[in-house]
Amino acid sequence: MALLELNGVTKHFGGLAALREVNLQVSAGEILGLIGPNGSGKTTLFNVITGIYPLTRGTIRFKEENILGLKPYQICHKGIGRTFQIVKPFTRLTVLENVMVGTFYGKKKAMADPIQARKTSEAILDRVGLGLKKNHRVSDLTLEDKKRLELGKALATQPELLLLDEVMAGLNPTEIKELLELLRSIRADGVTLIVVEHVMHAVMNLANRVYVLHHGEKIAEGSPAEVARDKRVIESYLGEEFLLASG
Ligand SMILES: Nc1ncnc2c1ncn2[C@@H]1O[C@H](COP(=O)(O)OP(=O)(O)O)[C@@H](O)[C@H]1O
Ligand SMILES: [Mg+2]
Repeated sequence: MALLELNGVTKHFGGLAALREVNLQVSAGEILGLIGPNGSGKTTLFNVITGIYPLTRGTIRFKEENILGLKPYQICHKGIGRTFQIVKPFTRLTVLENVMVGTFYGKKKAMADPIQARKTSEAILDRVGLGLKKNHRVSDLTLEDKKRLELGKALATQPELLLLDEVMAGLNPTEIKELLELLRSIRADGVTLIVVEHVMHAVMNLANRVYVLHHGEKIAEGSPAEVARDKRVIESYLGEEFLLASG
């Protein structure tokens, strides 16, 4: 049984087809890498899965349940968490308060006990590397820290499926390595991940399967090694240098 199943997912913005007939199945426990050039529809895919935009056509099922038409917060309660490529913190709240919001409104929204919510949120902040900045104002954070905060907010909603939109952008190699470890530990906790990322060595290392979009259409799907060798993927996205560099 697929955890998430998309069939014929099509999204038009006026005359532009941002997604065309996308079929995608994600199994529980996978880390799926979602790659493709800028404008290929990756963020739009996250936006339709999480109910931000209605579909033009197609179906989306999560744990065999049709989630089309549900509001974003309802989809979050079902167990789908996400980060935003353009970070979206609550700017008037502290770092800790931002994460606490996730614990109050996420999947186990019954976490009504503020003391427990605070403890859980502090543990999450330690995990994403923001433990020492928990009382900072969000406006004082660097972009990299805001990316970590996105991840913390998403984790606080206790997702079963977590959609990550370019969380590595702007991080240095050491930070990327740390983040890869963190994402693996999140998967080890039983969370399924879809990871949109341009940092190719990171995706290829992390993902057990890779799905490639180009102009809103799937052009390849397979193991990282298969996708890295795929002619259309090399032509449209990776380039010959990647093939040479990765042997
Ligand atoms: N809200 C929107 N209104 C109009 N066009 C949009 C909107 N969101 C995305 N698009 C367009 O859809 C296409 C796919 O965008 P996007 O999903 O952001 O790509 P990616 O995340 O792969 O870079 C682009 O051409 C983009 O301009
Ligand atoms: Mg995007």
